[in-house]
Amino acid sequence: MQKLEPKFAGRHLITLEDFTKEEIDYILKVSHDMKDAFYANEETQWLVGKTGFLMFFEQSTRTRNSFESGMAQLGGHATFLDTSMMQIAHGESAKDTAVILSSFGHMIACRYCNWGLGNKYIREMAKWSTVPIINLQCDLYHPMQALADLMTIEDEFGKTKNLKVSVIWAMATTHKKPISVPVSQVLLFPRYGIDVTLAYPEGYDLPDWVIEKARKNAAENGGSLTITHDMDAAYKDADVVFPKNWGSWVTNQSTTVVDDALLALKAWKCTPEKMALAKPTCRYMHALPADRVNEVVDEVIDGPQSVVYQEAENRIHTAKAVMALFVHDKLPSDRR
Ligand code: CP
Repeated sequence: MQKLEPKFAGRHLITLEDFTKEEIDYILKVSHDMKDAFYANEETQWLVGKTGFLMFFEQSTRTRNSFESGMAQLGGHATFLDTSMMQIAHGESAKDTAVILSSFGHMIACRYCNWGLGNKYIREMAKWSTVPIINLQCDLYHPMQALADLMTIEDEFGKTKNLKVSVIWAMATTHKKPISVPVSQVLLFPRYGIDVTLAYPEGYDLPDWVIEKARKNAAENGGSLTITHDMDAAYKDADVVFPKNWGSWVTNQSTTVVDDALLALKAWKCTPEKMALAKPTCRYMHALPADRVNEVVDEVIDGPQSVVYQEAENRIHTAKAVMALFVHDKLPSDRR
């Protein structure tokens, strides 16, 4: 791999909206390089002697393990922190946590999805941390998922422009899912010339500021954003579909997952009949974990159009790119 350009030293990754398209292009290029190096069994020791902290307020399979394994493959070490076992559980502040952890290492990454709390908490840490803060998903953004999604679209199609990519609400009963994945997708994809269709039942709107920004991103970059409550219109002639649940934290802030209003929407499910409306080459994608009963049936997620495992694998290549780029130039002496 070539020398990494010092574009990201001293910066935090909370949302991809803070980065130019050229900077995101570079993150994706390094992600593809990391993937090539992985398959060629080449070492990618960019972070020898570096350490990072992975703070999780919620469960994770892909995000935790892509960062933990990724950091080891970069030559460094990542410490997993279950926040229920930290002094945060006794009320220790975001400031104290950020100042102290940043004095111990080179990166703090955090997942905190609670509606109205997560993004504020991560931004508060970013205010005080002397090392990069990486958002591993909050109530508003999941930048690492959006990067892996875009990388997978590039892998599958060799391009992004003029593709119809549909982000479609689906019913789920497994747990309450944040809006951060569809928000990150509708903000990022139009910047790559993608024609995004956002489809959902009444009441599951994304915030107005997200739609306004997504439309601006589309106008500036040749993509588009279409909003519909017609699920079939979203599947029709699509190149990629992302049928996924979101938003019950916004519509219902109690911890109750399943209620009558949700169950009334059980037709919002990805089935072979829905996939038949899309192009024959359409790819089925999902950030995972999927509710295999309600969001999608096995025939689709295990079928030939599904690229969910490729999408999940790209989480480690993008994680390694982000850690290498944001951490490798940041020496402990920088904070003196
Ligand atoms: N897609 C995703 O973020 O997966 P995890 O919740 O398992 O990290």
